[in-house]
Amino acid sequence: MEPRIIHLPKFLDDRGNLSFIEENNHIPFSIERTYWIYDVPGGERRGGHAYGNLQEFIVALSGSFDVVLHDGDKEIRFHLNRSYYGLYIPKMMWRELENFSTNSLAMILADQNYDENDYIRNFEKFTRIKNG
Ligand code: TYD
Repeated sequence: MEPRIIHLPKFLDDRGNLSFIEENNHIPFSIERTYWIYDVPGGERRGGHAYGNLQEFIVALSGSFDVVLHDGDKEIRFHLNRSYYGLYIPKMMWRELENFSTNSLAMILADQNYDENDYIRNFEKFTRIKNG
């Protein structure tokens, strides 16, 4: 599957808006883990790795940031700045999160528990695996 922006249901309401995510409905996997990234100092970056098997869905619950993906061939940049859509990232994509705005909050849904052995932290190794 390709990385793509997925728009979520949005209930606009004078009392405040509401959005939600159902596993295997709005996102194409079952959720095994949720983590979030917050209090990112200005100019810092997160990520800088790929996962061998993990799929993720990233939402900017607050503020904004960029997700820069590399598929072993080309780079694709996504700007996330609303809580009613997110970025689906299939396995084997190199990713960096950068340009975090003040007080931004990145929520990440993942289809597997944390496993350091699934991380590919070397970009050369990543492109070698991708390109054979
Ligand atoms: P890492 O995935 O490298 O951060 P980034 O989001 O920038 O890619 O995770 C940083 C550290 O946090 C890692 O050394 C281990 C810990 N960690 C967990 O224990 N569980 C988790 O679910 C995650 C995402 C990280």
